[in-house]
Amino acid sequence: MSDTPKRILITSALPYINGVKHLGNLAGSMLPADIYARVQRLLGHEVLYICATDEHGTPAELAAAEAGLSVKVYCDRMYEAQCEAGAAFDLSYDWFGRSSGDATAALTQHFSSVLERNGLIEARTSKQVYSNADGRYLPDRYVEGTCPNCGFEKARGDQCDNCGKLLDPVDLIDPYSAVSGSRDVEIRETEHLYLKQSEMSGRLRDWVEGQTSWPPLATSIALKWLDEGLRDRSITRDLEWGIPVVDENGDPRPGFDGKVYYVWFDAPIAYIGATQDWASETSGDWGRWWRTDQGADDVEYVQFMGKDNVAFHTLSFPTTLMGSGEPWKLVDTLKAFNWVTWYGGKFSTSQKRGVFMDQAIDLAPSDAWRWHLMANAPEGSDAAFTWEEFQTSVNSDLANVLGNFVNRITKYAGSKFDGVVPEGGVSGGHEDWVIAEIGHRLPMMIAHFDAREFRKAFAEMRAIWAAGNEYLTRAAPWTHYKADPDQAAVGVRMGLNLAALFGVIAQPVIPRAASKILDALGVPDDRRRWDFDGWADALPAGHAVAAPDMLFAKIEDTDIAEWTERFEGGGE
Ligand code: 2FM
Ligand code: ZN
Repeated sequence: MSDTPKRILITSALPYINGVKHLGNLAGSMLPADIYARVQRLLGHEVLYICATDEHGTPAELAAAEAGLSVKVYCDRMYEAQCEAGAAFDLSYDWFGRSSGDATAALTQHFSSVLERNGLIEARTSKQVYSNADGRYLPDRYVEGTCPNCGFEKARGDQCDNCGKLLDPVDLIDPYSAVSGSRDVEIRETEHLYLKQSEMSGRLRDWVEGQTSWPPLATSIALKWLDEGLRDRSITRDLEWGIPVVDENGDPRPGFDGKVYYVWFDAPIAYIGATQDWASETSGDWGRWWRTDQGADDVEYVQFMGKDNVAFHTLSFPTTLMGSGEPWKLVDTLKAFNWVTWYGGKFSTSQKRGVFMDQAIDLAPSDAWRWHLMANAPEGSDAAFTWEEFQTSVNSDLANVLGNFVNRITKYAGSKFDGVVPEGGVSGGHEDWVIAEIGHRLPMMIAHFDAREFRKAFAEMRAIWAAGNEYLTRAAPWTHYKADPDQAAVGVRMGLNLAALFGVIAQPVIPRAASKILDALGVPDDRRRWDFDGWADALPAGHAVAAPDMLFAKIEDTDIAEWTERFEGGGE
């Protein structure tokens, strides 16, 4: 455990409200943030893990229209569905809020006023796509057309799904309405607020270049945008659903009737708004986490997100915070992920391609997904999900390496030593070997988790479990039981303490199985923290143990065949 407890603020990118998220979303932000939060809590740090649904903008309006519901009712329902999905995957948020809450609206309007006062927001007349057939402007995803960058014919107005480039709807070639399909569209002039990011370029560059703990993926994306020259961005839209644009006194702003803030302006502000909601509900102190004049200077702020979100978190949101001239806490480090792909292709919420969180949980327990997705996290590059690799992770790593070990040693202790940790005997070379092996690997595993290097941390955890198996093979207490019961006792005692250690280290990753192991072994709460001193004697002689219920059911080939057919795995 750490000598000096830190305060760590963790946020994971806010999931859009438009549907329960797929496994790619889970693996790219919420799950790693959860595991990191759990690790830091176990190390004794004070953690605040905040997330929320991202409820504004065209994704919400379009999804509600498709569901035949008002946007408000749709968001209420989907918020509940996302809460349920998060709970099913054991996501340990300290608060899971909503960007549509009052606190976020007030903060968004506040930032807008302050930035305008500081000369960083101004109203400009701009060109927008107007649909004659629909009788409305078509912002962002309401308009589709051909990408001017790569020629993809179904690019959305705000971003091309093919090449990833951020777009302005008026740049699309051959635009058409995503609502009616009509091509009877024209460009009209309308007034909007613009965030003058270009004026912040110098400050942003100094700040980005001064960061020492950002991973190269984040720094390179931020610098690429700065090198290309930051463009001023409109932060309002012609939409009904969203945070209304008000003037400095909070009154409706003339000329901005029917306009709201752009979803990407208010979404990151919702990290703060959701923290305020958490504080209201729990008597917490939000300023201690977000205001450097109220103690947040001591906070380490870590953000988790997919790579498409990096520009917003390294440039736009910092422009809002820095540009306000107020003492807001800025991100200290961010962890960005590549994509989890569906057999090399894209997961898609709108096209319902891939496996979604609510479906996944009906197929296999949350621990199985948590282990597989993060052991294969898309860190260095995109990572393809396949059913076959999922089966291997569960059957080999979880059922064989961890499950069998715990099962074997606890059952043996039950049948030969009356279900208590046996006493007697003297440790020898095998015990020295495994203690040295664990003593070498544990610090590496912790360091990888601390550095948010999930693949490496998981590989180390698997290696620790494998060392336990190797120990049992070498010590083979069952071969000594008759001739030298003391020798067998040494092996069983060490085996049970290894099982307890395995349960302790598994907690952030596979919390359900870890609890089963620790409960069956009667590991007291104060020995479940990540303080590994004296781990080999944590369960003393005479301590009662039992065998846990089955930890991991194997995934059969017939399951794989059925799921492949049902989800059209690889059959794009
Ligand atoms: O890409 C997305 O899913 C966005 N909803 C992420 C928002 S992150 C934050 F800024 F709110
Ligand atoms: Zn493109």
